[in-house]
Amino acid sequence: MTASVAQRPPGTAPDWTIAQDWDRYSQGEHAVWDRLFARQIKMLEGRANTSFLRGLGILNLSRPGIPDFEELSDRLEKRTGWRVVAVPGLVPDEVFFDHLANRRFVAGRFIRKPEQLDYLEEPDVFHDVFGHVPLLADPVFADYMQAYGVGGLRAITFHALQKLARLYWYTVEFGLIREQGDLKLYGAGILSSFGESVFALESPSPNRIGFDLERVMRTQYRIDDYQQSYFVIDSFDELLHQTADADFAPLYDRLEKLSDISPEALVGSDKIIHRGQQTHGQTRPRTAL
Ligand code: PHE
Ligand code: FE
Repeated sequence: MTASVAQRPPGTAPDWTIAQDWDRYSQGEHAVWDRLFARQIKMLEGRANTSFLRGLGILNLSRPGIPDFEELSDRLEKRTGWRVVAVPGLVPDEVFFDHLANRRFVAGRFIRKPEQLDYLEEPDVFHDVFGHVPLLADPVFADYMQAYGVGGLRAITFHALQKLARLYWYTVEFGLIREQGDLKLYGAGILSSFGESVFALESPSPNRIGFDLERVMRTQYRIDDYQQSYFVIDSFDELLHQTADADFAPLYDRLEKLSDISPEALVGSDKIIHRGQQTHGQTRPRTAL
């Protein structure tokens, strides 16, 4: 998502964007997108939330090949006013938030190598576009993302970014949503992951907990493995109202005095949907992040 210290790479505009250079993708690179797309679409049947699937259709994302950001943006902009812009990699926090606040989603333009289909250190165009962009065609989620950008700029001034970043992590990247009583995926980090799309919904290992803003902002997360806790919202409307309509300043104050919660822990006030057995990866050394 963001990096706190960085120098703007040569060739980037002052807002850190670069041209996507769509014509420079090779056949092989387009083929990697197609392979990822085909296997993910299959996996997501019955697992992805309805708005995401609708977004794929609206944006014509099932067309073969890596999407051309200009064309994609023209479709998206008609719906919700969002555009997709290319960046060379991680960008500084304030740059990232400023783009979101202005309805620009920053996306990596490179695509993973065929031998890295399942493991990535940095978000590539498949994660960024397939995972994130379809939901930007949903008017409510689109508003949430913009509000998050505004909130991010504000959080910088309160020195509360670490707390706010957890909200992004447990919603935009790894969120679950209830739809007609069933849990579905909406977090981009899950939707673009072959393994985690099944794990997040079906594994007995992780906790699944009803969304609570303060609880989420106290919860540490791991970046090196599947999540140990997922938070479940009831609707994007609810998410938007709880966040955009609230003044986070008193919340940040309160959080200062509250301890962090580790990724696998449950606390007394949790609305537990599934108590995780935490059996995943038990034989491997773990680091709490
Ligand atoms: N309302 C929040 C604030 O006062 C901003 C925000 C909106 C944060 C939406 C996250 C998501 O800072
Ligand atoms: Fe992401």
